[in-house]
Amino acid sequence: MQIPKIIQGGMGISISDWYLAKTVSMTGQLGVISGTGLHITLIARLMDGDREGNVRRALDNFPFQEPVKKILDKYFVPYSGKRKTGYKRPQMWGIKPTNSINELTVIANFVEVFLAKENHKNAVGINFLEKIQLPTLASIYGAMLAGVNYIFMGAGIPMQIPAIIEKLSNHEDVNYKLDVTGSSKEDDFRINFEPGKIFPEIGEKIGNLCKPYFVPIISSVVLAKALLKRASGKIDGFVIENSTAGGHNAPPRSVSAEGKAVYGAKDEVDLQQIKEIGLPFWLAGDYYSHEKFLAAIEQGAAGVQVGTAFAFCKESGMDPEIRKSIIEKIKKDSIEIVTDFKASPTGFPFKVVQHSGSVTDKDVYNERCRICDIGLLRQAYKKEDGEVGFRCSAEPEDAFISKGGKAEELEGTVCLCNNLFATAGMPQIRKDGYTEPPVVTSGDALNSIKNNFLKGCNEYSASDVIDLILGKKTKSL
Ligand SMILES: Cc1cc2nc3c(=O)[nH]c(=O)nc-3n(C[C@H](O)[C@H](O)[C@H](O)COP(=O)(O)O)c2cc1C
Repeated sequence: MQIPKIIQGGMGISISDWYLAKTVSMTGQLGVISGTGLHITLIARLMDGDREGNVRRALDNFPFQEPVKKILDKYFVPYSGKRKTGYKRPQMWGIKPTNSINELTVIANFVEVFLAKENHKNAVGINFLEKIQLPTLASIYGAMLAGVNYIFMGAGIPMQIPAIIEKLSNHEDVNYKLDVTGSSKEDDFRINFEPGKIFPEIGEKIGNLCKPYFVPIISSVVLAKALLKRASGKIDGFVIENSTAGGHNAPPRSVSAEGKAVYGAKDEVDLQQIKEIGLPFWLAGDYYSHEKFLAAIEQGAAGVQVGTAFAFCKESGMDPEIRKSIIEKIKKDSIEIVTDFKASPTGFPFKVVQHSGSVTDKDVYNERCRICDIGLLRQAYKKEDGEVGFRCSAEPEDAFISKGGKAEELEGTVCLCNNLFATAGMPQIRKDGYTEPPVVTSGDALNSIKNNFLKGCNEYSASDVIDLILGKKTKSL
């Protein structure tokens, strides 16, 4: 196993896109693409004209061209100036997915990994969230078809994944047992994925696939031990993420009277116990100095996983306008980051940068209309007729309540799917001209990029981040 010292953490949606991951991997550290919502990203890139031809070059390399042709016919629009209309949305993922949503998702994951791995031999990883269960099987398969080397998975307990990787490497059928609210012990709701049905004779055309290393992202020793004991196969290492990290966080053990997250000693991970497990591990959350990196190594870590500093570097997939406006604010002042309990329909706390023009701006928030048309974060629930339904606390109130959702869950939610796509420069434009606003997530250490990386400049690169952490010479004032 190649053991990187620095993992550039997966950052959805499309903040760690193929370009950032490729940039990092080419330095010899590990670049990780975000695997969240890649089927929507693929459509957006094609509808934006794929101006450099990267997506179409990757599509040319997909081993089955019939579904590729269907995708191009449906979504590719040659570039003719800034887009004024909305992106087409594919059918949402369901428990019995159609061939076309499976094909689209497999191919989208293939494209992203193919591009991240193109023209070099270094390893590349992909990051998934366990909470987003429906597209997982198709996504893993697509990434494996392009030779992904590592799979990282957080936001949940990914017990089922190791056996799935094993089977998919032989093009075997797989299924995933879904978390369904309101289901009983006797219920067994599963989503199936049959490679040979979606791509006939794929097993004969393509040999067995390389198995990527599987690295869960966790925040407790209990979870590490549970995974080792009960996971369906091999675990190759762990990322141990603390509460300062960007994106979703593990729920805190205690909450203040004002409803704020209070992370304390009980939330800290006993690294001695992790070390005793004997697998490589990486520490994540504010590892922004060479001293901290060395301290992590001293504690037995193989290295560190870093997010925020890469999210705001010039190779990141973040919309450059948003990135620059946040950097400008940090240079003059400082910016507040709130661990928000309500923003994410997943129920996990989510770090939100308080930034004007984004959903944290009251006017912007009040102007938005409730919607759920991407549906990655919907919660599966058991309906009265015994079937599985899906609801999202960001969808219109009536719809959510009629599906058994609770009124108190509606307050403060945002459409993370649409808002995160906007942050990555792919905002949806509605029929009435309304453009979906962004939501920006970062770790608590966001303000530290001023002194660590900007050093008086307006931007910095992924290699500046790597150099600082590894204690190499960095750019001077
Ligand atoms: C913009 C952004 C998006 C993120 N998205 C994800 C994600 O989709 N999945 C995930 O496992 N972690 C996600 N993270 C967490 C990072 O992968 C990484 O573990 C974390 O940022 C490390 O802490 P740091 O931000 O202090 O460096 C995200 C972080 C940021 C800053």
